[in-house]
Amino acid sequence: MTDMENMRRIFVTGGAGFIGSAFVRLLLEEFPSCEVVNFDALTYAGNLDNLKEIQDGRHRFVRGDICDPAAVLAALEEGTDCLVNFAAESHVDRSIHSAAEFVRTNVLGTQVLLDAARAKGVGRFVQVSTDEVMGSLPERDDAFFKESSPFEPNSPYSASKAAAEHLCRAARHTHGTDVVLTRCGNNYGPRQFPEKFLPLMLSNAMRDLPIPVYGDGRNVRDWIFVEDHCRAILAVMSKGRAGEVYNIGARNERRNIEVAESVLDALGKPRTLLQFVKDRPGHDRRYAIDPAKVETELDWRPRETWESGLQKTIRWYQENAEWVERARSGAYRDYYQKQYGQEVGAG
Ligand code: NAD
Ligand code: TYD
Repeated sequence: MTDMENMRRIFVTGGAGFIGSAFVRLLLEEFPSCEVVNFDALTYAGNLDNLKEIQDGRHRFVRGDICDPAAVLAALEEGTDCLVNFAAESHVDRSIHSAAEFVRTNVLGTQVLLDAARAKGVGRFVQVSTDEVMGSLPERDDAFFKESSPFEPNSPYSASKAAAEHLCRAARHTHGTDVVLTRCGNNYGPRQFPEKFLPLMLSNAMRDLPIPVYGDGRNVRDWIFVEDHCRAILAVMSKGRAGEVYNIGARNERRNIEVAESVLDALGKPRTLLQFVKDRPGHDRRYAIDPAKVETELDWRPRETWESGLQKTIRWYQENAEWVERARSGAYRDYYQKQYGQEVGAG
């Protein structure tokens, strides 16, 4: 068992992305004595704008690829207390178009980090994983993902994250690495790239563009505000038991169509903006997390309700139109065209 007193030097990968940047901000705010190296390749999803409010000498950004052992070893200092791995290709639809980059970053990259952590004597390795490694649940009130649920990944994205978990488990078993894993559900909040459902809906609806809803819109996701996820990672990092997995969720299951309607209502936009489009291949039907372990063992609870988290998120997107504009320019347009074609208007 460790605690935050022993967590002064933290190496974060993927800290220019949506969740990683929220985590870095939280870490610096909550722990005045910690220092953070933020290692990120700045792919299409990484954005230095996400870090521009961090004016703190305790934060050092290094641009680098987690698949490059020399770059990782150069940036990872001896005496690092904890490595938290957020770096990943993270979008299911992109993994359906092409899986190679998912295998490279999510699988090979995780092994490179595990090896480097061992070489440099890093105290603890936190792997940020996903509930999606456990596949799809039936639509029954008593079916939930537990830490003991079997691996049943259904998309190239979730399969690559499951493979990364196996490598973490093997590092623990074979080399005795202090690894802890988190599996969280669907995050929402400020700075999420607008290819994911919630920010895509927000940015489209704010421009009176149609909202693409896959299939019958009745797929269920378990939503959590990004800072609540980050606080849970802090709890796991500082108090979690080595070798354990912790499921993280806010007990907030919703059908996609309900989520879309809440967003439209909150923005005062008509429901006629909803546009049903062809389903995602292999679309997981339902995710629902049982967070009892992280709640009871680590005394973690979410702070935001769905209503308060959604309000904060909407306000951020309304106040940061420039961020959205920049994210939607360039390569995003090509992706949008490929994913939605002429069906859903201009991205
Ligand atoms: P994101 O796509 O917003 O950010 C990923 C970050 O990783 C980006 O900054 C990107 O530049 C960086 N990155 C990608 N490839 C890299 C490489 N080869 N080397 C170094 N950096 C690289 O993703 P996110 O939504 O913030 O997710 C972060 C992590 O949390 C991922 O591991 C994801 O699997 C996991 N997760 C996400 C969710 C969710 O709802 N978004 C839920 C559960 C778990
Ligand atoms: P997404 O944000 O891609 O997260 P994940 O696939 O990891 O759960 O999608 C959330 C849900 O919204 C999922 O059921 C797919 C659906 N969805 C749509 O209906 N339309 C869209 O345009 C997108 C991107 C997602």
